[in-house]
Amino acid sequence: MYYPEELVEEIRSRNDIVDVIGSYVHLTKKGASHMACCPFHNEKTPSFSVSAAKQMFYCFGCGKGGNVFTFLMEYENLTFVEAVRMLAERARIELPALEYSEEARRASEFKAKLFSANKEAAKYYFYQLKSERGRAAMQYLKKRALSDETIVHFGLGYSNKYSDDLYRYLKNLGYEDEVLRQSGLITMDEKRGVSDKFWNRVMYPIMDVNSRVIAFGGRVIGEGEPKYLNSPETPIFEKSQNLYGLNLARGSRKDFFLLCEGYMDVISLHQAGFSNAVASLGTSLTTQHAKILARYVKEVLITYDSDGAGVKAAQRAIPILKEAGIVTRIVDMRPYKDPDEFIKALGKEEYQKRVDQAQNSFFYEIEILQKDYDLADPEQKTRFYNEMAKKLLIFPEELERGNYTEALAQKYQINYESLRKLVNRYGAQGESIRVAQETRRYQNEDTRRKGKPEEGMRRSQRLLLTRLIEEPAVFERIRGVISPEDFTEEFYHDVAVMVFEELEKNGSVNAARLIGRFEDTKRQRQAAELFSTKLNVPMDEQGRKKEFADTVIRVKQNSLDAADARALEQNDFGALQRNMEKRKELGKLHSSLNLG
Ligand code: UTP
Ligand code: MN
Repeated sequence: MYYPEELVEEIRSRNDIVDVIGSYVHLTKKGASHMACCPFHNEKTPSFSVSAAKQMFYCFGCGKGGNVFTFLMEYENLTFVEAVRMLAERARIELPALEYSEEARRASEFKAKLFSANKEAAKYYFYQLKSERGRAAMQYLKKRALSDETIVHFGLGYSNKYSDDLYRYLKNLGYEDEVLRQSGLITMDEKRGVSDKFWNRVMYPIMDVNSRVIAFGGRVIGEGEPKYLNSPETPIFEKSQNLYGLNLARGSRKDFFLLCEGYMDVISLHQAGFSNAVASLGTSLTTQHAKILARYVKEVLITYDSDGAGVKAAQRAIPILKEAGIVTRIVDMRPYKDPDEFIKALGKEEYQKRVDQAQNSFFYEIEILQKDYDLADPEQKTRFYNEMAKKLLIFPEELERGNYTEALAQKYQINYESLRKLVNRYGAQGESIRVAQETRRYQNEDTRRKGKPEEGMRRSQRLLLTRLIEEPAVFERIRGVISPEDFTEEFYHDVAVMVFEELEKNGSVNAARLIGRFEDTKRQRQAAELFSTKLNVPMDEQGRKKEFADTVIRVKQNSLDAADARALEQNDFGALQRNMEKRKELGKLHSSLNLG
């Protein structure tokens, strides 16, 4: 964090979340909270709630939540520092200048020059495209059916045939050689001297999420090698960290992204109204890319080329996206090669249909697997079924596995019972152990969470934390009985440490500040979710006491179960004995909580 915590807290406390969100979304008061249709996903009945007491928001539909900073970060697509600045201004709080070391200051000034040189270059290329010299380039873009608006929207340009005119242009504007050399726009070579990197190409500026130009791709006009030339990595351009079109897609307010391979795919899709398209640009998708995508969406539809290379790239991307917690589906564009060709041939309505039909990545992987086998040959067919059965073990839950087994049996016309038996046989053979690791990676957090036996105990821990925040007075009743160590779920434990600390110190909990202590917006979201656990607490005093007592006992029992497991593992019979004593006291505890 860049500003002192107290200052951030002051800014937060002087910007009432109901006022701030109310200026973007129409809120209606309903009981203790304000409700609205969620601005982050499409819905008809309101599930987006804002709590004045907790100074936080949470959507029961899509799970977005956090404090007033989180809201602005998500809604206005700001960084944390930008959100702090905006709210400071709103509350008329003056911010101190950010403190930099001499070295950091110099590095940041240098980067600012690189940003500005890239911006000037983009302007220059754009101007060239519009000029007489850019005629062939313009014709080429028109031939590819790009409209004037699209050309402006993406800031396309043209680098002309002179080998150093950009260099001279930027030099005239006052940029030093060192800046130009490191900008990636100019090559400086002992032998050949100074020349522009891009020469007689259509130029695609690459922008970061804040729409600052950080690099370029240049395409030959027509045929030629290399088809695309790209800026090298520079202090402001890291390939693994940037996605083409993300600056536009992040504002699309869609709950999924279309992930494609190239510049032209993104541009055509946007032109056709699919403003949620992004591309990883030639480089294969990295873990960092996936993490960045996960900040914005929970689902990605891969719309890579239909050729061999595209299929391989998709197969590589699927586990990477899963790892980041993203659900993946695949858009089938056959017989066309890519979104650009598809839309040109069949139009956007047909493309939309393919989007709607995009298949789950599991079926896609099975389809690819099938290509290795000739189903006309009984022996190969059998081997294919066996491989399929092994793959099905990826789903640890019987019900889910059953559903997939059934779907595959239907799709490949296999007898369901036979396939099921095959799956079970591999399962019994310990094949499941081999896939266990893969499974954990395969399943995103959400599917892992739902319907598991642990869900009950997690719920109890969540209920208890929420209750402590909403009704801090109950803390007195469990003080010394329950501690943060009783929260076995790692994240809940971290939150409990903070909650207990605040209760000890202030006798109350500041939920919004607590949320802000997590740096990662995903964690902030989880904290908001946690604090929004629906408390179906009975209205009458007696009922409330009983509910609370039950919850405390469940949390305590679970904590003792976990302690027993640890003790058994370490053959610590003394600990087992002590746990047993504690268990005996639970009954007493329950009645005292119930009555007291
Ligand atoms: P494609 O060859 O599919 O290009 O490469 P494209 O975007 O469909 O372009 P058109 O329609 O042929 O004009 C996909 C991406 O791979 C990178 C580029 O980012 C391109 O958009 N690439 C491709 C390169 O960097 N260099 C190359 O020589 C080729
Ligand atoms: Mn392509």
